Formats: sequence, structure tokens, C-alpha cells
Amino acid sequence: MKPIYLDYNATTPIDPEVAEAMRPYIFECFGNPSSSHWYGLQTKKAVEKARDQVADLINCSPDEVVFTSGGSESNNYAIKGAAFANLGRGNHLVTSSIEHPAVIQVCKYLEEKDFQITYLPVDQFGQVDPRVVEKAVTPRTILISIMHANNEVGTIQPIAEIATIARNHGTTFHTDAAQSVGKILTRVDDLGVDLLTIAGHKLYGPKGIGALYVRRGTQLEKLIHGADHEQGRRAGTENVLEIVGLGKACEIAKRDLNKNRDQMQRMRDLLYQELRTEWDEIKLNGHPERRLPNTLSVSFKNIEAEKLLGEIDRVAVSAGAACHSGSVEISSVLQAMQVELEYAMGTVRFSTGKMTTAREIKETAAIFVETARRLQAEKQKW
Ligand SMILES: Cc1ncc(COP(=O)(O)O)c(C=O)c1O
Repeated sequence: MKPIYLDYNATTPIDPEVAEAMRPYIFECFGNPSSSHWYGLQTKKAVEKARDQVADLINCSPDEVVFTSGGSESNNYAIKGAAFANLGRGNHLVTSSIEHPAVIQVCKYLEEKDFQITYLPVDQFGQVDPRVVEKAVTPRTILISIMHANNEVGTIQPIAEIATIARNHGTTFHTDAAQSVGKILTRVDDLGVDLLTIAGHKLYGPKGIGALYVRRGTQLEKLIHGADHEQGRRAGTENVLEIVGLGKACEIAKRDLNKNRDQMQRMRDLLYQELRTEWDEIKLNGHPERRLPNTLSVSFKNIEAEKLLGEIDRVAVSAGAACHSGSVEISSVLQAMQVELEYAMGTVRFSTGKMTTAREIKETAAIFVETARRLQAEKQKW
């Protein structure tokens, strides 16, 4: 029997409708979209349809969508692209201390290239305070990059407020929306961003495909040089098969947004309720309300998450702390939120999906409570 999957923030399965839309592009429709003959026109049309579908979900113009190889590339392109394109105006970037490595590591790389980076703190709920952003911005700030929603705890940032600050200072603003697109309404004009990252495999599309929204007029240095694909913004023959998949995934995400959000949230809240009634010493991480509808990061007091998960093979989830030769390594997100060690060490991230059922949730809760009780009893024996 396959384990119960509650790790949808790590990745999602491909939606059957997406797979169906991709099918013709495995065999029959193989032309190079740059070719002017019939074969090329077929795939060019498919790529442009997908661009429309992505644009429709985030409410932008199709010519503002650049296809990439995923969330990491979109973040690299946005951050390095904006940094190098604006070098004449300054060398200072502002980001947060809870970004995904696909942002943090890009910033670390830029530090080696003589850029200065401010890593903003977050509060106990994992939120960045816009007033702190305002204080960090200087006349030499050329980019602000703050994620829309956090992958570990699900906290949603006040992006529209930060966008106003960026606009007032004439600073380009990027948001990594890899986790939010498809889960909550993510429209570029509501958010007021110039650059926005999308990752296909987080919204029931294929892995290895993503997109970057680039607001018209935003200056970006190219990341991948070569021929003139993607309006001269990213070289490389288009990954037609997966672009088609991403497009379809975006179409479905828009069509089913409310239904999926409600289902994921119901399952997430049921899980929390079941765990909490059976286990008092549990702490919810992330913002109680301003949080992704599918994300439940909880800490079991004085339990080692890795040990707990090591005992459970029936449920697939992620741990928020890892044990290395006797010492516990807490995730940088939990550290930034200053979660106390006795809780942080026992952090488990559950993330529900549109396929998650109440039966799976009840079984999961029962397994976790039973295993945590057993581990606690064993500890007391020592
Ligand atoms: C917030 C966030 N940004 C970026 C990424 C990287 O996306 P990809 O795996 O498509 O490169 C992830 C994936 O885990 C993510 O959660």
C-alpha cells in the first residue's frame, strides 16, 4: 500500500488533465517552434496558448511571461538579472531571512560579486514588517525580493504594502510565488510586483518547468545567452511538452481555485484539530490566519522530528529539523522565527493537496499521536 502523501509543498503529482494535454507533444507534435513549416507552427501555437493560460492565471499580458526551467531559474533570472541590469544605480538588495535557498543562495553569490544584501528579520509568525523594509531601503537599493508565501510554515507576506514602498523608491520588486500560485489568488496587479516566480510542479504541472512574470519596462540582464527565444529574453529551444503542461495546470488552477482552496483548508484544519485534541504540547508554526490554506507546520514538544518520521513509513511528510551526530539542526526559517529549541526540534510540515481525503487525515493523526506517545514513553523509561 502506498504511503499517504501529505507533502504537496515539496511537489505535486501531475493532474490527469495536464497529462492528457501533454500527450500529443510526446509523439505527434514534435516540431521546433522556431521552424516556419507546419510542424513548427503546431508547437509555436501550443507554446503561445500556454503563455496565454499562465498570463490568465496571474492576470498579466502574455508578452510579460517568460518560460524557464522552474522556480530556481526564475529566481536566479529575476535577482541576478535585476542586479546586473541596475548596477549603474546601486548595488544594494533587500530580501528576507526566510527565503527559499533559490533566493538566499543567489544573494550569497551576489555578495561575492560585491553586492550588498540586507536579510530582513521576521516576527514570531514568519512575517516581514513593511516598516522594516522601508527602513532598509537606501538610494542605492536596486531590488527588493520577498517571497509571497513561505514553503515551510505557509506564512503569506504583505506583498502589496511592500510593493508600494518599492514603487515609492523606484526600486524593482520581485516575489517568489512558487508556493502561492494555484493555492491562493496571485494576481500581479493586486500584488504590485515587477517580477514573479512560478514553479510548475507545485501546481500539478510537470517538474523542470516554470515561468517568470516580467512587468513591461523592467530591466533585466539575460541569464541564458544564445538564440533569440522568448522575445530575446531566454535562449534555448522551448520545452514544448512541459510548457503545454504548465499552461494546462494554470488553466485548471484558475478554474478550480476556490474549490481546491476550500478542500485543502478543510483537510489541513481537520488534521490540526485531530492532533491538538490528542496531544496538548503541540505548537502551530506560521501565521494563524495569513497562511497558505494547505500548510500545517506543527512542533511536538521534546520529540525529535527525525526520530518520529523514522518510525512512520505510512505517511510522507517533511521534518523541520535534522539531527546530525548528536546535535539538532533547526531549519533557518524556524530559527528566524525564534521557535524555542524544545519545540523546533519536533517540527513536522504537513501539506495537503486537492486530492487529500478526510480518511487519510484521520489515519495520519492517529499514527502521529500513537507514535509520539510511544517515543515519549520510551524516553521516560531512560
Ligand atoms: C518557495 C520556493 N521557491 C523556489 C522553489 C524552487 O523551485 P524549483 O524546484 O521549481 O526549482 C521552491 C521549491 O521547493 C520553493 O518552495
